[in-house]
Amino acid sequence: MATVSESVHGMWSSRLMFILAAAGSAVGLGNIWRFPYVAGENGGGAFVLVYLLCIALIGIPIMSAEIMLGRAGRRSPINSMQALAARSGASPLWELIGWMGALAGFMILSFYGVIAGWAMYYVFESGVGTFVGATGEVATSTFNEFTGNPAQVVGWQSVFMALTVLIVARGVGEGLERTVKYLMPALFILLLVLVGYSMSTGYFGDGLQFLFGFNFEKLTWGGVLMAMGQAFFTLSLGMAAIMTYGAYMPQDSSIVGTAAMVAGLDTMVALLAGMVIFPLVFANGLESSAGPGLMFVTLPLAFGQMPGGQVFGTVFFVLVSFAAITSSISLVEPAVAWLVERLGVTRRRAAIIVGGISWFVGLGSAFSFNIWSEATAFGGMTFFDVMDYVSNNILLPVGGMLIAIFAAWILDDDVRHSEIGIIGERYTLWSMLVGVVAPLAVGIVFVMTIF
Ligand code: PHE
Repeated sequence: MATVSESVHGMWSSRLMFILAAAGSAVGLGNIWRFPYVAGENGGGAFVLVYLLCIALIGIPIMSAEIMLGRAGRRSPINSMQALAARSGASPLWELIGWMGALAGFMILSFYGVIAGWAMYYVFESGVGTFVGATGEVATSTFNEFTGNPAQVVGWQSVFMALTVLIVARGVGEGLERTVKYLMPALFILLLVLVGYSMSTGYFGDGLQFLFGFNFEKLTWGGVLMAMGQAFFTLSLGMAAIMTYGAYMPQDSSIVGTAAMVAGLDTMVALLAGMVIFPLVFANGLESSAGPGLMFVTLPLAFGQMPGGQVFGTVFFVLVSFAAITSSISLVEPAVAWLVERLGVTRRRAAIIVGGISWFVGLGSAFSFNIWSEATAFGGMTFFDVMDYVSNNILLPVGGMLIAIFAAWILDDDVRHSEIGIIGERYTLWSMLVGVVAPLAVGIVFVMTIF
């Protein structure tokens, strides 16, 4: 394999653009919708601590491994893994990392598009003032009526998926980079505005106490698995999205430093989102363990009781929609890049195919809240629950573990050294984390959860 320094799909114009794109992928519904409710369901503090440990000890090492493999391969994950395995004299089976990633990507995008559609709908619902002074009943029935209507849910899912396809169809520079360049700074500003608003509730301290008070009695091994799955999901790891973005990264950027920066930004947004949501929840005497509806029922209700809530509530859902779109494009890109390489179809057609399949699978998740809400398996899980659980808690950690093992043990030494760009003690530490700590930690959590 000759070393290529450019990808055929295009390149990020600078290291900063890579950071914005990768942070755009990482920061999404995982931070604002999923993190607070999963933390809430698992009792707060101790869960958050395990989550932070997973980010530092598993997330950052695996993210650097993914970026490295992507940049060394410079093509879609499936083809990069194929080329790198051949170059390293390893079994062609390693290509499976790419295939598993594509599968996880379709599964995630299918439910992601549904929830993102809800967020877009809530921009309008908040904007017209539905929640101003609303009671709990109004907030609940607004949510139930909306999610109970399959046509509405599928309609908004379709709008969101169409936007995703449109952006990806325009390419790496014109589509992806241009989107993250404007939306990410906007997102950070909106978030800070909302944190300020939340501080004015007088319940900010209660929010902090909930997020950082370590109540270990509430934490189970199941909760630890959720924290680890959340770390993978929120950093977009284990499914080769970041590998794909790495393939478009300039050759002279440092990988480990960049990975730490992206993970830092992502963690900051999740914690800030928690600091926005929980004070509002407590200020209004609501439940922190409300589940997936936390952001859609509890929060509008809280905004509805507060001065300026109509404006800030609308701003909040705009923020969530922005965050979702900069993530969904990274769920589509790996499969699109592969289709372009493999079948030689245009990027536009590839984006339509990938988006179309995810949209179709997503119908199952859209219907999980209405016509298929009774169709459950594995002890009461709907189609949506199964997609979410299997992709986040199984496929991503397994994918991440294999990526780490390949990067640390299998990959050709020359490639690894020339890409990773650190030497001496720092290199030893890095290879310990990637090759031993991260895979072992994933393995231990799996074993403990099963028993
Ligand atoms: N990280 C995204 C989020 O937090 C979700 C995602 C997962 C995106 C995997 C790409 C790949 O919302």
